[in-house]
Amino acid sequence: MDRLSILGNGPLEGRIPISGAKNSALKLMAAALLCEQPLVLTGMPNLADTRFMARLLQSLGVNVEWPTGEALCRMHAESVTSTIAPYDLVRKMRATFNVLGPLLARVGHATVSLPGGCAIGARPVDLHLKAFEAMGADIVIEEGYVKAAALRGLKGAHIVFPFVSVGATEHAMLAAVLAQGETILENAACEPEIADLANCLNTVGAKITGAGTPTIHIKGVAKLGGGRYDVIADRIEAGTYAIAAAATGGDVFLEGARGEDMGALIDSLQHAGVTVDIADKGIRIRRDGKALQAVDIDTRPHPGFPTDLQAQFMALMTIANGTSTIRENIFENRFMHAPELNRLGADITVRGSEAIVRGAPKLHGAQVMATDLRASVSLVIAALVAEGETMVNRVYHLDRGFERLEEKLGRCGAKIRRLDGSA
Ligand code: UD1
Repeated sequence: MDRLSILGNGPLEGRIPISGAKNSALKLMAAALLCEQPLVLTGMPNLADTRFMARLLQSLGVNVEWPTGEALCRMHAESVTSTIAPYDLVRKMRATFNVLGPLLARVGHATVSLPGGCAIGARPVDLHLKAFEAMGADIVIEEGYVKAAALRGLKGAHIVFPFVSVGATEHAMLAAVLAQGETILENAACEPEIADLANCLNTVGAKITGAGTPTIHIKGVAKLGGGRYDVIADRIEAGTYAIAAAATGGDVFLEGARGEDMGALIDSLQHAGVTVDIADKGIRIRRDGKALQAVDIDTRPHPGFPTDLQAQFMALMTIANGTSTIRENIFENRFMHAPELNRLGADITVRGSEAIVRGAPKLHGAQVMATDLRASVSLVIAALVAEGETMVNRVYHLDRGFERLEEKLGRCGAKIRRLDGSA
């Protein structure tokens, strides 16, 4: 298993190009199953997760042309030859569950493994299944599989989500585009990736309005064609590098980052004493030698502070002046990075859904273990400011969601090296 060796060595300085958003790309790829003509996605992030999704689509009969290292991916689901997504595929990556809705809408039936537990909490899919039932699907769960059928097609429905779910909003939208009649989604998630999915679906012929607000209207159409669509910039990747720049007291321009998607993080950074300049083509982050101040955060659905940046912000707070309270409201088990950060000299106490972070004067290098995608990158951030060498083990988590991380950080002056598992 690969490891990363990181030597803490001062400010990051330079430019970092931001990749297409993983969380969006995966759902746009699922949308290819709905399209009778080729869907061409540009700005595709080359990640373990997106490559994995491509393999799943191929197993369902989609012709996927995506040369190694390229940002352009062409998918053609002229006909769907399988409607089964087996346990081994869905277990490895939760977003693969999102092929259920498109298969149901396009073919009328699907058998998809339940995603099962996950390192950051239980993560159920009941809201997804209730939405399909409201659209007239028959659903049974047998031996860990969801078997869904709507042999005469899905019907538009009025769905009010009891609480905000990104996954359920996207999944319901993916199914409703080919349903007969209108679907209204209320209390829908407002994440920028939801609007991105709607824009992409509209490009290929869907009729969706209101995506990005709590009420989404979807007028079903008989079929979808094809088209070309550019994946939105990854606000989580951009936020991660913004935090890394702030932590090291650096000056970094995040090329392609969209300030309008990152309001909660930008506010928190500014309160911590970081200077943020939003430009047309990106965002500049710098700290000009000022001390970091402790800031409290509370994760919430968008436009609140994103759960996917909680671990990284915690790493920043470990070296701030004062005490920060970090509350995680989305997932019940998302503090696994706290004990690892403490190995680097941080002073964090976890109490239920709250972490109390007392700023320490300095961190020092140590061996640490990556536990999930965002937790791993929080360890990288802490390692960049720690004295001496930090070894981050199990970096395959990072490869799921960060494209060319060592190269992007290395170009800004970080001393970061990948050691292969046998070394
Ligand atoms: C969540 C995050 C998303 C993040 C992603 C990966 C929110 C609102 N969502 O999206 O920003 O990118 O994780 O880390 O911040 N739930 C149910 N039943 C369901 C679906 C969800 O109870 O059918 C619960 C979940 O357990 C969770 C909450 O609803 O507590 C929000 O989950 P949801 O938004 O669906 O999760 P993801 O789509 O994975």
